[in-house]
Amino acid sequence: MILRARTSVAAASVTLALLVAGCGSQGIQLSSSSPYHHGAVLFRDHCSGCHTLSLVGAQGSATNIKNRLPTNGPNFNVRKENLEQVLYAIRNGGFSGAIMPQNIVVGEDARAVATFLAQYSGRQAANTP
Ligand code: HEC
Repeated sequence: MILRARTSVAAASVTLALLVAGCGSQGIQLSSSSPYHHGAVLFRDHCSGCHTLSLVGAQGSATNIKNRLPTNGPNFNVRKENLEQVLYAIRNGGFSGAIMPQNIVVGEDARAVATFLAQYSGRQAANTP
């Protein structure tokens, strides 16, 4: 009887782990075979709290002046960044070094995020008034 209870707890935690893992690609509109997919996941996990990029479902930037917070970073739907700018911002903590934490991602991960962002940022720039 006790053994049985333990087994079902174990089964429940396996199910939970699977559910959490299943959320891995939520909101990312890129095929998992895309060379940019890894960078997109890293961006979603580490940057979306403060930056907006609809390609990964990120809405961290301010939407209007009334709900603006100091931590709201630029909206990458409209802001175009190149590889060097993103790598610099990651190392330095944004361009000012004041708000964005430094080195949220490093090494290969930093490069994957930067390559992804250089490719996909600024896609809606033409639509801004
Ligand atoms: C805690 C909030 C926060 C997080 C998390 C964050 N940023 Fe930022 N980021 C900001 C703010 C605020 C700015 C604008 C002020 C500045 O440049 O210092 C900024 C600026 C930037 C810039 C410069 C944009 C420009 O054109 O001015 C880039 C590039 C950037 N962030 C990329 C990233 C990436 C990539 C990640 C994830 C690895 C990330 N940020 C995570 C808040 C954040």
